[in-house]
Amino acid sequence: MDAIECLKSRRSIRKFKKQQIPREIILEILECGRWAPSGVNYQPWKIFIVTNPEFKKKLAKCTNYSKIINNCPSVFLIYLDKTIEYSYTKQVQSIGAFFENFLLSIHAMGLGGVWIGEILNQKDEVDKLLDINDPKLEFMGAIALGYPEEIGKSFRKPLDSFVSWI
Ligand SMILES: Cc1cc2nc3c(=O)[nH]c(=O)nc-3n(C[C@H](O)[C@H](O)[C@H](O)COP(=O)(O)O)c2cc1C
Repeated sequence: MDAIECLKSRRSIRKFKKQQIPREIILEILECGRWAPSGVNYQPWKIFIVTNPEFKKKLAKCTNYSKIINNCPSVFLIYLDKTIEYSYTKQVQSIGAFFENFLLSIHAMGLGGVWIGEILNQKDEVDKLLDINDPKLEFMGAIALGYPEEIGKSFRKPLDSFVSWI
């Protein structure tokens, strides 16, 4: 798939096959994630990969999207590592770039996933589950990953609703 087609055809996937994801595929996805751009190339991400069903059940209680978490084979918990002091905005933007690289790479590989932000209001609970007690680490969101069972529809606003030529 070429890059343009990949980014236009990517959709959030919320229903997954039972099939597990081989470790080498997970490593290749992370490899694509780590090539995301970041401010001053600080690469401020830290990733926790959850495949254990019991752990996933506990994690699922932290979001209204518990069904997605329980039914996908793997969940990636994306943290911002603030050890290096730098613009908070640019650090968060770098994490966004990581998310997007991740989502595009899984689509290109025939997998699917969804960015789950509706877990951040229980970020303290997520920290507790991971036994994280470090103010330098901030939870930024999750990605549920798997082989797509169903591909949803989406839409975009027309260009002229948000673009101005100066
Ligand atoms: C910051 C962010 C948070 C999101 N949080 C959720 C979420 O909690 N649950 C969910 O089902 N989708 C979530 N999404 C996915 C969006 O709903 C989805 O990207 C949007 O509706 C466009 O659909 P598409 O990705 O299929 O093109 C989130 C996306 C972003 C960028």
